[in-house]
Amino acid sequence: RIAYVNGQYVRHPEAAVHVEDRGFQFADGVYEVCEVRQGMIVDLTRHLNRLDRSLRELKMASPMSRAALTFVIREVLRRNRVRNGIFYLQVTRGAARRDHYFPAPDTPPTITITAKSTDPSVAAKKYANGIKVITVPENRWDRVDIKTVGLLPNVLAKQQAKEQGAQDAIFVDRNGIVMEGASSNVWIVTPEGELVTRPAEHGILKGITRTTLMDVAATLDLKVAEREFKIEEMMAAREVFFTSATGICVPIVEIDGKPIANGHPGTVSASIRDAFFDIAE
Ligand code: PDD
Repeated sequence: RIAYVNGQYVRHPEAAVHVEDRGFQFADGVYEVCEVRQGMIVDLTRHLNRLDRSLRELKMASPMSRAALTFVIREVLRRNRVRNGIFYLQVTRGAARRDHYFPAPDTPPTITITAKSTDPSVAAKKYANGIKVITVPENRWDRVDIKTVGLLPNVLAKQQAKEQGAQDAIFVDRNGIVMEGASSNVWIVTPEGELVTRPAEHGILKGITRTTLMDVAATLDLKVAEREFKIEEMMAAREVFFTSATGICVPIVEIDGKPIANGHPGTVSASIRDAFFDIAE
C-alpha cells in the first residue's frame, strides 16, 4: 500500500508525520472521507467544498490547489488499485514546537492521503440485516459542523456501543433531541411515510451523503422534512437509518435493545440506496 505524505508517495508502513505535528498534539486538523465505487469517487466536489469550509473555519491555509489535490487523490487511488473502497484525507496546521498559539504563518500544513479497498459483501450484509445502535448523551463541543480530527467523544461512543453488543451510537441531547450518529447522520421514516432528518445549521456535521440523499429523495417523489425529532419519535418510526460516505444508507433495526418497527430493514431506505448511485457523480 502507498500513502501520500507532504508531497511524496511513500510505502504505507513508513508513512509518518512529525512528532510535533499539531494534528497529533492538539487535534488541530480537518479531514474528509470519500467513497469510491466502480472506480468513481462519489460526491468529490461536495467533499472538497466542505474541506475548504472546514479549513476556513479554523483559519487554516489550503495545502494545494483543487486541481492538484484532485490529481493526488486519484494517484493514491490508482497506486493502491482501489476500485471499490475509500480514501481518507487529512490536513493539519503543520509541525511546530508545541505551543497553543498558531505557529508562524509560513509553517507548511501537513497533508496526508490514504486509501483502501473495501469488501462489498460486508456492506451488503449490513444492508440486508441492518445494525443495532445505542443512544448516548451528547457531550461534544458546539462546532461539530467542522469536520475536525478531534473525535474522542465519537470514539468513546462507538467503543461503548461495541462493548454493549451494538455497532454504533447516536448522540441525543439533554432535551431528548436526536443529533447524529458517531460517524453518520440520522434519518427516520415516520408512520405517515415522511422522511425526516434534523437541520444541519448547527449541532451536527452537514453530511455530504445527507445532501445527496435529498436529491435522491426528490427523484423518487419522496417528501423530506428537515426538522428536529426526539428519541420517542425515533423509537416509534417506521424506519431509522444512517447516512455517511462509508455506509451510504444503513438501516437501523434496533436501538437500546428495542426493535424499530418489525426489527427488519425497511423498504424506503432500500429504494433510496438503490437510487443513490445513479445520481451521485
Ligand atoms: N464520518 N456525522 C459525523 C459525526 C461524521 O463523522 C460523518 C462522516 C457524518 C456523515 O457525513 P458524510 O455523509 O459527509 O460522510 C455525519 C466519516 C465517514 C468518518 O468519520 O469516517
